[in-house]
Amino acid sequence: MSKKYRVGILGATGTVGQRFCQLLENHPQFEITALAASDRSVGKPFVEACSWKLATPMPEKVKNIIVTPIAPPLDCDLVFSSLPSNVARETEEAFARAGYPVISNSSSFRMDEDVPLLIPEINHDHLDLLEVQKKKRGFDKGFIVTNPNCAIMSFAPPLAALNDKFGVESVFVTTFQAVSGAGYPGVPTLDIMDNVLPYIAGEEPKVETEAQKILGKFNGEQIEKADFLVSAQCFRVPVIDGHTASVRVKLKNTSTLEEVREAISNYPNLNLLSSPSPFMAITDEPDRPQPRLDRDRGKGMTITIGRLFPDNIFDYRFVGLSHNTVRGAAGAAVLNAELLIEKGLI
Ligand SMILES: NC(=O)c1ccc[n+]([C@@H]2O[C@H](COP(=O)([O-])OP(=O)(O)OC[C@H]3O[C@@H](n4cnc5c(N)ncnc54)[C@H](OP(=O)(O)O)[C@@H]3O)[C@@H](O)[C@H]2O)c1
Repeated sequence: MSKKYRVGILGATGTVGQRFCQLLENHPQFEITALAASDRSVGKPFVEACSWKLATPMPEKVKNIIVTPIAPPLDCDLVFSSLPSNVARETEEAFARAGYPVISNSSSFRMDEDVPLLIPEINHDHLDLLEVQKKKRGFDKGFIVTNPNCAIMSFAPPLAALNDKFGVESVFVTTFQAVSGAGYPGVPTLDIMDNVLPYIAGEEPKVETEAQKILGKFNGEQIEKADFLVSAQCFRVPVIDGHTASVRVKLKNTSTLEEVREAISNYPNLNLLSSPSPFMAITDEPDRPQPRLDRDRGKGMTITIGRLFPDNIFDYRFVGLSHNTVRGAAGAAVLNAELLIEKGLI
């Protein structure tokens, strides 16, 4: 049997932390050996510290793990981090410095020049940046990799396909984001029921900048960001899981609708354990994608694209959907860890 890596989860009791526990329950490469959270939880068995909110039962194996503080050393070979950004930066750097690979969901390091911001299918070669990171920060065995903001996952993959074939010039995106994206307990019921909130703190700048880094090219020293502009408006909507993006895109080179569909459908996939098949699914039903009906495609890892048409002002328009706590968070990080193993980096 191949080696199982021992995994610690920082922020284990939270919305994303619980997804990690769920996704790793029967994972052939990883076993959870450490769970860390805030002072509120430290010293308690996980089953007492965590208010479990997923539809599947809490895995038996994690129930009696005693929650520890978010500081090294932890009894594990690598850490997944789902900490709030205000504590993530210092903590993740401390773990990397102590020799742990850190696979983070948090925004703290995403835009640092020496930190890979990964969607494995799109930019796995950005892992070469880790050599630069280790030298710059004086890390020995440890390092930090990140996955993108959850809303980016609903539209960066089709953009990557279009950028490769035709060049993307500009993007206008409106996101409709689920309440689970705000963590637990998240948005107050009286604010979100019967309502749409036109503001998510800190979200629009992330949605306007991360895709250019993800679609950028590594030149041996740094990532040269893709040169398109993104204009974003982000809304919180009364959906539990699943972020939707309404996208209009202007391309550098002309293309037919058939070519655009082919570019998305034929975009290369990977063959990692958590890779979905397909990576991106185009639906032609006029009323799809919908969060409730489409977020679980590919066990929550497939991006669904619908309403793909020529646009009157831009070149094309489409609606993208992804599961924010799976493809946009814990599932993305697990895929990153599988990629790191495949590349021999952990
Ligand atoms: N939710 C999503 O869809 C999503 C998607 C992508 C990325 N993210 C990012 O993932 C991170 C976690 O999000 P979430 O939705 O899981 O949040 P959450 O439900 O609020 O969970 C936060 C977790 O962090 C712990 N924590 C909070 N403050 C802490 C502190 N001062 N010291 C140590 N631990 C602390 C909490 O522990 P206690 O239970 O002990 O308080 C809990 O385990 C955030 O950076 C978020 O931006 C979230």
